[in-house]
Amino acid sequence: MASSMSASERILITGGAGYIGSIAAHLLISQGFDVTVIDDCSTGHARAVPTKARFVQGSLQDRKAIQEALKDCSSVIHFAGKSLVNESVIHPDLYWQINVEGSRNLIEEMRNSNIERLVFSSSASTYGEPDIVPIAEDAPTRPTNPYGRTKLAVEDMLSVEAKTRGLACISLRYFNVSGALETEEGWIGERHDPETHLIPNTLSSTMTAPIKIFGSDWDTPDGTCVRDYVHVIDLVAAHISALNALTPSTHEIFNLGSGRGYSVREVLQTASEVLGYEIAQVKALAREGDPAILVANISKVRSELKWEPTRDLKKMIEDSAKLIGLT
Ligand code: UFG
Repeated sequence: MASSMSASERILITGGAGYIGSIAAHLLISQGFDVTVIDDCSTGHARAVPTKARFVQGSLQDRKAIQEALKDCSSVIHFAGKSLVNESVIHPDLYWQINVEGSRNLIEEMRNSNIERLVFSSSASTYGEPDIVPIAEDAPTRPTNPYGRTKLAVEDMLSVEAKTRGLACISLRYFNVSGALETEEGWIGERHDPETHLIPNTLSSTMTAPIKIFGSDWDTPDGTCVRDYVHVIDLVAAHISALNALTPSTHEIFNLGSGRGYSVREVLQTASEVLGYEIAQVKALAREGDPAILVANISKVRSELKWEPTRDLKKMIEDSAKLIGLT
């Protein structure tokens, strides 16, 4: 039986100073939840943490910091981790240490504190090159990069924890997240340094520093990679549905995307329509570790979590442009 949340419960958000985690923290607080954030601010920003959250500035490599953060929490949403495909190819050990060891520390400390409810940020990069598109959750998992392999390793740990120790757990396999949120404290969104993602790079493209299109001869309709973009606000809404659907001794996996693919060229075209000018662009070599096509089959999340993405690619680009003051 699923056990639903009441809005007076305290939720720990790992990675709550990062892009998606900070937006989740803001939205959960606006819905009446008490929120604790743990983040070491290695890539996130302390100023993105809502002022109403309890904030433990610390790492998931530090057991004491985790214990401190877990105090009074009944559920955890685990966003913290490294998430760049290309970086993971260059520094695989870093990805195993931060993503896998960090998650292992968290799971063990949750066990020690008798906290048995977890929503985990997994990734579409667990699939690798799919045989069938759109990709369903029961598709083979053959990651093409260390990042995807670390996410899969954590999912495996969670399955064991659910089976042997009763953990109630949901892993959400994100496709490509974009967009931003306007709060009383201003716009919050993607602020990576260096920025590697397609939509922010498209918005900052100029004639002197044009965006590079990584690969133009992929086996796709226009030769550029195809991805499935989902608005961060829709994505966070799915986490709240997931919290309400957590079931003891069960580890469920759901895709989170829009169910529709856009090529890199189509993203650039949509951005030029939003901005009213052509996006300066150059062809470049394909990026190592990139699969050609990742598009989600979202039937399972639609039917079991009653979740529906409501914001399209244009809205994601519009909000991302507002975040950086472009429109
Ligand atoms: N791309 C470019 N030029 C750029 C940036 C990206 O051509 O300057 C291309 C990439 O090669 C890729 C597509 O645009 O084909 C999207 O790239 P992103 O870097 O925006 O996103 P990724 O697909 O590499 O990865 C994102 C997240 C991962 C997640 C994955 C799931 O960063 O954490 O989506 O689909 F696993």
